[in-house]
Amino acid sequence: MNENLSITQPFSGAPVALRARGLRHRFGQTEALRGIDLDVLAGEVLAVMGPSGSGKSTLLHMLAGVLCPDAGTVEYGGKVISDLGEVERSKLRLHEFGFVFQFGQLLPDLSAVDNVSIPLMLSGISRREALRRAREELGRLGLEDHTSKLPGQLSGGQAQRVAVARALATQPRILFADEPTGALDSLSAEQTMQALISVVRQAGASLVIITHDPRTAAYADREVIVRDGSISSGNPVQVTQ
Ligand SMILES: Nc1ncnc2c1ncn2[C@@H]1O[C@H](COP(=O)(O)OP(=O)(O)OP(=O)(O)O)[C@@H](O)[C@H]1O
Ligand SMILES: [Mg+2]
Repeated sequence: MNENLSITQPFSGAPVALRARGLRHRFGQTEALRGIDLDVLAGEVLAVMGPSGSGKSTLLHMLAGVLCPDAGTVEYGGKVISDLGEVERSKLRLHEFGFVFQFGQLLPDLSAVDNVSIPLMLSGISRREALRRAREELGRLGLEDHTSKLPGQLSGGQAQRVAVARALATQPRILFADEPTGALDSLSAEQTMQALISVVRQAGASLVIITHDPRTAAYADREVIVRDGSISSGNPVQVTQ
């Protein structure tokens, strides 16, 4: 039996959380995306792999409503994201989606707990409650002893776990991660991935994770490969629909 089938089994009946169809995008002369169809199922971990410059980050930004496609649609919650105004799209990014990048995402002058509490306060939660939830989220990621440290006082792996805590604090339905372990040594990458997967599974959120590392991709339920702006392998859409 196809290995992919057995891997996708737990999600074979899961609803589609995000549906992308016919995504195309150009940066000047560069055709970054050449017509991508992709479903993200509720609760799945989807790895996006492929060579440098193939369009992975562009695709992620488009799925998350950071960039609007030249053509094609991304549907979330019954709405086409690119039809929404900027205000509505930022609300979506704040409340429904979370983001983790390779590095440089924590505010250097704020402690771990303050970094995690910021998106909560932005979404209207009081400072006191935001700090309580931020400590709880950091605890889930094994960082209870590091809450008052500045990013510069944390190891690379700890800092990435703070970034994961911050992304998950607002309880997003979909977490987008662009090479979140790309700057870490293999042990820290492993620990960060384990923590990331565990909290995502607990939350029942979907995770779309770009990675070059097959060991990171091994945590995924499903994998697609982007080459030259198209999906070249994997099952990008649900075949039963
Ligand atoms: N803002 C931009 N302006 C111009 N060209 C861009 C821009 N962003 C991306 N590109 C181009 O679009 C193509 C796809 O870039 P993208 O960043 O999506 O690749 P990637 O697969 O994420 O690569 P990597 O693995 O190196 O991060 C590349 O040729 C890149 O040079
Ligand atoms: Mg990239």
